[in-house]
Amino acid sequence: MVDSTEPSAGPRADEAVPGFDLSRFKLIGQGAEARVWEGSYLDVPAIMKQRFSKKYRHAILDKKITQSRLKQEVRSIVRARKLGVPTPVLYYVEQETNSIYMEKVEGMSVKAALQSRALDEQGLHALLREIGRQVALLHDGGLIHGDLTTSNMLLRSPENKLVLIDFGLSYNNTLAEDKAVDLYVLERAFTSAHSALGNLFDDVLASYRQHSRLWCPTLNKFAEVRMRGRKRTMVG
Ligand SMILES: Nc1ncnc2c1ncn2[C@@H]1O[C@H](COP(=O)(O)OP(=O)(O)OP(=O)(O)O)[C@@H](O)[C@H]1O
Ligand SMILES: [Mg+2]
Repeated sequence: MVDSTEPSAGPRADEAVPGFDLSRFKLIGQGAEARVWEGSYLDVPAIMKQRFSKKYRHAILDKKITQSRLKQEVRSIVRARKLGVPTPVLYYVEQETNSIYMEKVEGMSVKAALQSRALDEQGLHALLREIGRQVALLHDGGLIHGDLTTSNMLLRSPENKLVLIDFGLSYNNTLAEDKAVDLYVLERAFTSAHSALGNLFDDVLASYRQHSRLWCPTLNKFAEVRMRGRKRTMVG
């Protein structure tokens, strides 16, 4: 088990992973449960995502949770790809260090693209529709993303093809309620980060409705989830 709670701790240089030059990995992101490193695999740009232990959790429980999240993330990436949703290609999974090595998607996040106004009106419209289509594909295939935000969506350059990432909270479920909450998380991401650009989420939702076979129960539930969210906000 790796003890890497210190932010300065690097990937395990003593673990020889075939094809990887660990000394050349550079930290690019630190989330609540994982660190993301950038480097190369057989001279191809690669990303390494390493889950670390949480000191406040009981050690055995912590190990179980970390391992099950890793497995779930790997399974969900594979499942999403089978459903036709572009994700990074998986290169290598190392259970001992809770690490996933994957393709580095060259480009910028949807969040950065929206905030820097990188797309023209036509490009923006196409992107919003593509987001709705990909989420519909996931949901119709019984996969809930669990963390749909514009930072967890990348635009692969040069064509600006949408790629979904960060399946760490994903799980299998076919309930309308879970799909509705997934959509609600995404709506909140749009209203909190991109409201200056207008009602972008309407386009996402219209496309979802068009592409999901089960849009009707999901969108009914979505209306309920929204109401509950509003009430909570009003109560405080
Ligand atoms: N395959 C990839 N290609 C390019 N960039 C990536 C890739 N995977 C992750 N990143 C970058 O690293 C960031 C963090 O990755 P990810 O979202 O998977 O981890 P996280 O722990 O959930 O981080 P956060 O808490 O910031 O969401 C992404 O927002 C993205 O900018
Ligand atoms: Mg993320």
